[in-house]
Amino acid sequence: MTNAVKHPAIEPAANRDTGLAPDLVAGVAPVPSTTSPTPAIPPIPPIRHGGNLLAAVRRYGRPAAAWLDLSTGINPDGYPVPLLPADVWQRLPQDNDGLAEIAAQAYGAPHALPVAGSQAAIRTLPRLLAPGRVGMAALGYSEYAPAFAQAGHTVVPLTEADFAHDNLVEGLDHLVVVNPNNPTARLLPADTLLRWHAQLSARGGTLIIDEAFMDGVVTPPLATPSAPSLATPLAASLAARADAPGLVVLRSIGKFYGLAGLRCGFVLAAPDLLAALAEQLGHWTVSGPARAVAQLALTDTAWHAATWARLATAGQRLAMLLRDHGLTPVSQPLFSWVPTPHAAALHEALAREGVWTRLFDAAGDCPPSLRLGLPPDDDAAWQRLDRALAAAIRALES
Ligand SMILES: Cc1ncc(COP(=O)(O)O)c(C=O)c1O
Repeated sequence: MTNAVKHPAIEPAANRDTGLAPDLVAGVAPVPSTTSPTPAIPPIPPIRHGGNLLAAVRRYGRPAAAWLDLSTGINPDGYPVPLLPADVWQRLPQDNDGLAEIAAQAYGAPHALPVAGSQAAIRTLPRLLAPGRVGMAALGYSEYAPAFAQAGHTVVPLTEADFAHDNLVEGLDHLVVVNPNNPTARLLPADTLLRWHAQLSARGGTLIIDEAFMDGVVTPPLATPSAPSLATPLAASLAARADAPGLVVLRSIGKFYGLAGLRCGFVLAAPDLLAALAEQLGHWTVSGPARAVAQLALTDTAWHAATWARLATAGQRLAMLLRDHGLTPVSQPLFSWVPTPHAAALHEALAREGVWTRLFDAAGDCPPSLRLGLPPDDDAAWQRLDRALAAAIRALES
């Protein structure tokens, strides 16, 4: 693996905040006492997620049913799960039930491995890769940094500006790209990603593309004149190329399908890597009911088409509503991201109005920010958000 250091000395290493054993944290080989002082190294931030409505219930004393929960980027009108036959609950899950093939076909990928949410792969995959320097967005999905650090990698946080540079992967062994990124909504084109993949794989590295939010973005048959797409209409998914050595694509059933509780996702990669991952994860990690529902959702093309169109419209409606209130969101169909120095105050003011959002601290070159998911397809919910935004912004201005 290359030792060329292109990026500044920003490896997060400290175990002070994570509470991890030092030998589980990347870049924390004990420093001999004779060395000169080491430069300050930012710690890996604690993992936080949206969807923690019960924390809001406790903190503000407002019952769960009285909140408009926009704290995730999950489709609020998810796939309608039917009653399942009794044997789906009673039998052990069958690995050869066709789900892997159905997923591969749905994503246009050569091979797929069902996993208990893409989260399961995020936690396991780092142990299968040769330890090295792993680049990932400073403001992104917060599970990657601890997962790689615990597997002995050195985490290199990247700014949003870094992702605009063609030479991003110089000095890196592996790169994680969430595409589109959560929460900044940055969408990178396939040719950029393929260039980085070629450079990394030539020296034995791996490009991991997390496409958890890609289903809402890909074009067919979304971008019709009657249902214009929010996203740049380009084929950004690398699913079709995912059997190349050194390339891994992750897909989730949680976001577009609105089935986060199902705990089902897919790894798209070359068969040998999928076999190694399956070996690590063991039998029956995806439950029988989850497998049955995922098969229905992945093959329901009429629901896909209707949902693409509906999410595109709703995503634009959210972006416009935020702009009407003087905010400047960056949007994709499933959420809008609002970078603003007033993010914490706005989060608080919206919470007082019963609207729960996800607050992000400043990270990399991003200021503090809020992410707002879509309200459900119900005018009363949208009007409530409109009123809450007006009240929250009045409160900030007073
Ligand atoms: C970017 C990203 N990747 C992966 C996940 C994990 O999704 P799941 O485990 O439900 O597939 C999330 C969940 O929020 C996410 O935001």
